Amino acid sequence: MAARNALVTGGTGAIGREICQTLADAGYRVAANCYPTDADNARVWIKGLNGSGESIRLVPFDAADYQDSGRGVAEAEETVGPIDVLINAAGITRDAVLAKLEPENWSAVIRTNLDSVYNVTRRVISGMASRGFGRVVNISSVNGQRGQFGQANYSAAKAGIHGFTMAVAREVARKGVTVNTVSPGYIESPLVLQVPEQVREKIREQIPVGRFGTPREIARAVLFLIDDASGFITGEDLSVNGGFHMD
Ligand code: CAA
Repeated sequence: MAARNALVTGGTGAIGREICQTLADAGYRVAANCYPTDADNARVWIKGLNGSGESIRLVPFDAADYQDSGRGVAEAEETVGPIDVLINAAGITRDAVLAKLEPENWSAVIRTNLDSVYNVTRRVISGMASRGFGRVVNISSVNGQRGQFGQANYSAAKAGIHGFTMAVAREVARKGVTVNTVSPGYIESPLVLQVPEQVREKIREQIPVGRFGTPREIARAVLFLIDDASGFITGEDLSVNGGFHMD
């Protein structure tokens, strides 16, 4: 079987990088999206990779912008070929309690974390359906499942992602396309390091496994869901959170 082509939005964040590398190591051709101003750093990262870097191509575009996403997806398809696998991993935080949550920080998080999922998935879904194969994995969060103090914006966007997953999963189920969510818990990443240490330690104490997760543990879950043999799993929300939240 020919190698499959993947696009990873937020492909140069902590979790995104690990997903790109894991997919490249597994034989996928990978288009790694990043925000245009992050492109120089991302090039340094790709250059520093041994082996897997050869299968990763950088495609800078603003996933929060519908038009730019159209341009970016077209560029990704020119670079690696028709997109068989889409991982929506672009995400930011702007934490504040609701009483202090300014409109620009509400919008920035909704646009980057939720609008981007629509902007990019809409560009690839018809191609996947017409070719009879596709895998979409949307990276949500445990904080979309349980709500987090100080994250009305982020929790709303991340919960919205799974609604999107379930709706689109139904639309394309008969076309060989699956759509799933992966909900990471607290992962060793700059996003989590931004949380004040005292708050972070309280959270760590509540994780049954006794530690934060690693980006690798998220990438493994993604790799499982995009496998050709995972075609009967769709509309699912796979929690990878060390037992922090159980439904
Ligand atoms: N539950 C209940 N009460 C809490 C609380 C919590 N989780 N966190 C803080 N409080 C209380 C404080 O004890 C304080 O109480 P008092 O006024 O009685 O002293 C009050 O709320 C205000 O707290 P702060 O002084 O911290 O308020 P702040 O405005 O300076 O900061 C905040 C608020 C920005 C939300 C800060 O608490 C914070 O950063 N919290 C962490 C949020 C978080 O977990 N973000 C996750 C980021 S990682 C991520 O998002 C990745 C992922 O997917 C998991």
